[in-house]
Amino acid sequence: RARRQRGRLLDLHREVARYLHEMLFTREATHARDYLKSRGFGKDMAVNWQVGWMPENPETFLSWARTQNFKRGEWIEAGIFVEKDRGGIYVRFRDRLMFPIRNEHGDVIAFTARQLRHDPNSGKYINSPETALFKKSKVLFALDRARKSILTEQAVLICEGQLDAISCHEQGITHVIATGGTAFTPDHAKLLRRYAKKALLCFDADKAGIEATEKAFRVLAAEGLPVRVVRMPAGEDPDSFMQKHGAEAFREVLGNAVDFFDFKIDRASAAGLLADPQQRLEFAKECTSLLSLIPDAVIREGMIQHVGTRLKAGTIELRDAVFRTARAAK
Ligand code: UTP
Ligand code: MN
Ligand code: MN
Ligand code: MN
Ligand code: MN
Repeated sequence: RARRQRGRLLDLHREVARYLHEMLFTREATHARDYLKSRGFGKDMAVNWQVGWMPENPETFLSWARTQNFKRGEWIEAGIFVEKDRGGIYVRFRDRLMFPIRNEHGDVIAFTARQLRHDPNSGKYINSPETALFKKSKVLFALDRARKSILTEQAVLICEGQLDAISCHEQGITHVIATGGTAFTPDHAKLLRRYAKKALLCFDADKAGIEATEKAFRVLAAEGLPVRVVRMPAGEDPDSFMQKHGAEAFREVLGNAVDFFDFKIDRASAAGLLADPQQRLEFAKECTSLLSLIPDAVIREGMIQHVGTRLKAGTIELRDAVFRTARAAK
């Protein structure tokens, strides 16, 4: 029964994606197509990613939905309809660009929906809720397309936003997935480890993205994936960077990615933390706990020496501290 239910939910998502994509090319969606154009999306790109538009008037969608062979409970289960306290329902999305989220086999399992005009009363993006098909902590956007390239490149480029991943793929940079935010989970890392030998982190160059970079390092390192960090000018994400500077410049930025520890040390150095001996000691302790996460002894030893040299810390002391931290964590 569960399998049949899953199949029905997959059918529902496939039909909704098809319908919303058709809606994008209606007269009512002119503003949505204009917005896409302003983001550098041509028609072929919209077709390629099956971008859709959820009408402004919920009746438009509801009257189509009623012609479909799905039960009210299934629409609610899919999170397309939301049940109200008094028993009525409403459509979760309204006047939004609809991006299908697919599992690694390419089946539509959820949607992420972008606002077309800024409205502080609602999120910039609204996503499908967790369903039998969609577990946010286990799904990576564009993995269905990126799988092959990740295998051949032996590396995966991890971005925050769906639009970042789409822009990269459209520019021929195809070993790219998006987390859909800054949360990167152990399940994400396990999924990627099936394809990738190393990870390239390219979160947004802002406070949230930089904080998320260290958290993601912890998760990836624990799964045995070496991490390099892509550095972009402050405020940019891969999509905005490419819109401004082009794909060639982005490729160059990718080529200049640095090891996670160099990223961390450079930031500390720029913040003046390494000049003061006390602060440098504190910083070395932070590095110790991060180094202790690296499971491979040879890679860990290489990194201890590298960090020790850069911090002008004794490698022996650093190594001892790493082992103490690792033992304490067991
Ligand atoms: P960002 O705020 O960096 O969005 O959030 P973005 O991808 O650059 O969006 P654009 O370029 O303005 O269209 C990164 C990701 O976090 C999730 C989305 O998946 C987004 O792509 N997010 C963000 C949400 O789920 N809800 C939000 O309200 C904002
Ligand atoms: Mn499957
Ligand atoms: Mn961001
Ligand atoms: Mn962003
Ligand atoms: Mn963006």
